[in-house]
Amino acid sequence: MGLEPAERILHAAGEVGPLAQAYIEEAVSRRETGLPLAYALERAEFGGLVFVVSPAVLIPRPETEFLVQRGEEYLRELKRRRPVLLDLGCGSGCVGLTLAKRFPQLQVVLTDVSEPALHVAGENAKRLGVADRCSFVAGDWFAAVKRRERFDAILCNPPYVTRRDDPQLAEDVKKHEPSLALFLDQDPTEFFFRLARKAVSHLVSGGLFAVEVGYDTAWPARCGFEKVNALTRGHEVHDFAGIERVIWGIRR
Ligand SMILES: C[S@@+](CC[C@H](N)C(=O)[O-])C[C@H]1O[C@@H](n2cnc3c(N)ncnc32)[C@H](O)[C@@H]1O
Repeated sequence: MGLEPAERILHAAGEVGPLAQAYIEEAVSRRETGLPLAYALERAEFGGLVFVVSPAVLIPRPETEFLVQRGEEYLRELKRRRPVLLDLGCGSGCVGLTLAKRFPQLQVVLTDVSEPALHVAGENAKRLGVADRCSFVAGDWFAAVKRRERFDAILCNPPYVTRRDDPQLAEDVKKHEPSLALFLDQDPTEFFFRLARKAVSHLVSGGLFAVEVGYDTAWPARCGFEKVNALTRGHEVHDFAGIERVIWGIRR
């Protein structure tokens, strides 16, 4: 109905208009096919904001707020007038756009290999009123970034489910969420090493590189970071379950 929960209580006696009714009926029939709720409603909450989502993007997960939080702490301490952030593999844009909303001077470059995902992120930037400070580039990880481009912070939530973990993944996740957003089809240590090595060449000195990890990719990510001399050792942030959720380092 386009109402916030509190407004719905206030307008409890209000009629459901024909548009709202059509939307609700459509959402219910989509949900009946087994489509995850966020896709059925075409929206998901993240960081206190509402994001449009479609099956082209991963449904933003609460765990990713730890990555955003690490970025936020870093940007708060940074004394730069117009900091620049790279959100690598942006999906819905939930990481970069949440920070753009929290930091009115922040410029954000959002990349993804998936054009349909970038389209969703672009739509979210417009809806959140931050599109004038965001740019969107399609490409394979750092290939999307200009050679001389430098960032104050690079945040990345890459696909990190290994094929070994595939059987443990919920069926509706496997069936409906983009496999490009879920599965890491290469050796995790090698993947994080290559990502970290590229990241340092696009960071200013003192810049932050932080990645989200799963329960079994924290170690490979730390090993990958440690092979890159220009980066401080991989520090970690734990989530509420005590699992290492973010590995981060600073460009020396
Ligand atoms: C785990 S999802 C994260 C999406 C979003 N940042 C979030 O936190 O919800 C990983 C994202 O990386 C993108 N991706 C996968 N392979 C990529 C590649 N080779 N280059 C750039 N992005 C890629 C996927 O399309 C997906 O949007």
